[in-house]
Amino acid sequence: TQHAERQRILDALRLSREQLMEVKIRMGNEMNRGLAKESHDQAAVKMLPTYVRSTPDGTERGDFLALDLGGTNFRVLLVRVRSGKKRSVEMHNKIYTIPQEAIQGTGEELFDHIVHCIADFLEYMGMKGASLPLGFTFSFPCHQNRLDQGILLKWTKGFKATGCEGEDVVTLLKDAIHRREEFDLDVVAVVNDTVGTMMTCGYEDPLCEVGLIVGTGTNACYMEEMQNVELVDGDEGRMCVNMEWGAFGDHGELDDFCTDFDRAVDDRSTNPGKQRLNGGNHISVSSFSLFLAHRYEKMISGMYLGEIVRNVLLEFTAKGLLFRGKLSERLKTRGIFETKFLSQIESDRLALRQVRSILQHLGLTSSTCDDSILVKEVCSVVARRAAQLCGAGLAAVVDKIRQNRNLDKLKITVGVDGTLYKLHPHFSSIMHETVRDLSPLCEVTFLQSEDGSGKGAALITAVACRIRDAGQ
Ligand code: BG6
Ligand code: GLC
Repeated sequence: TQHAERQRILDALRLSREQLMEVKIRMGNEMNRGLAKESHDQAAVKMLPTYVRSTPDGTERGDFLALDLGGTNFRVLLVRVRSGKKRSVEMHNKIYTIPQEAIQGTGEELFDHIVHCIADFLEYMGMKGASLPLGFTFSFPCHQNRLDQGILLKWTKGFKATGCEGEDVVTLLKDAIHRREEFDLDVVAVVNDTVGTMMTCGYEDPLCEVGLIVGTGTNACYMEEMQNVELVDGDEGRMCVNMEWGAFGDHGELDDFCTDFDRAVDDRSTNPGKQRLNGGNHISVSSFSLFLAHRYEKMISGMYLGEIVRNVLLEFTAKGLLFRGKLSERLKTRGIFETKFLSQIESDRLALRQVRSILQHLGLTSSTCDDSILVKEVCSVVARRAAQLCGAGLAAVVDKIRQNRNLDKLKITVGVDGTLYKLHPHFSSIMHETVRDLSPLCEVTFLQSEDGSGKGAALITAVACRIRDAGQ
């Protein structure tokens, strides 16, 4: 029957508890591989040291600028941190758009635009010419040897500006500031959004030692024992590690859970399969395209879920199970399903009539009532899998922290940000349930960040300035 045929297709996107447990175990193994010196180069999950050695303790103070680049919005912020009895954080921020030309053009154009926005912000705040210490939330994988340096390893989430990969983003920013010859800035810290989020939430809750983002992309960070962070000398204390878990699966770890719908998400125009690297070093087509895949992120985060849904709908239509078997040009168009539609379609308050009107709004006009039911089911299956995969990864993280500390039971808080997590009606509850189920020895509290990662970047900057000034 048609019903059975539909379910058979959707079953490929349903994961059993055993499979999720397997994802947790493999994530745990990859974490260890990324941390260890001898296996780091081959590991998919890079476990990048951040040079952030503690969570906030309330003694942070001062006025700071912060930049927040890499999520839905680009923000410039002024953050005023007061310590002591009246400890408080006052924030002013302005959101700027980054034009497509800057994202896809040259690095110079991108950073000139960023500096233009900073100049506009300083003027808007009546602070023209001020030179404050700056914390830069830059939400891409960076290799750091120090807090105030970040060598971009690889763009993710559709950013393509040329001439940036392999470069220190602080240098790129400073060069752009010098080109403008209008003001100077003291860039003190480069911070991933996961780290900024952990610090933002850590200011409210000292048990917060994990940061999680589920938005345009997905990633996590946590406080690791220095003795396990083999890439950095020293064994004392802890350091925050930016996992860059979006790349999990890029060496085949998720191949047995990955469907044709997932593989179809890869944009072949931006991730060419055939490439020659470094003057003729031939890398096999399959391993190179896998390397570029960012598999885990593409199965979880907002930028890609809509594409998975669209690919499933294409298959249903081609099989005559949807839209009366009529493949419209609209349905063949990449990117028509933005994440906000997924959240809307799954909203419990929504009548099927409204699902239909969303489909119509998307240009999928020939839909029937049955079509609406099926589309809603597809959205729900794809989002559930995303939430469960994310939960399985997080279960590995909290269990690792518990084992690090030799505890029978760990109480910990995870600071979370990102539009998918915040706006989707079911993602967060399914994710929480999965973590509890797969890591029963950890008592995990989820704290949603309302202030963004810029606040956390400012707190990190405050500590770095204090240490620097004390040393002078
Ligand atoms: C924001 C943080 O609120 O969330 C950013 O301040 C982060 O640093 C972003 O990148 C992630 O969510 P999204 O959905 O905007 O990608
Ligand atoms: C991508 C980036 C990562 C970031 C995440 C969430 O995975 O590579 O650095 O934290 O998106 O924004």
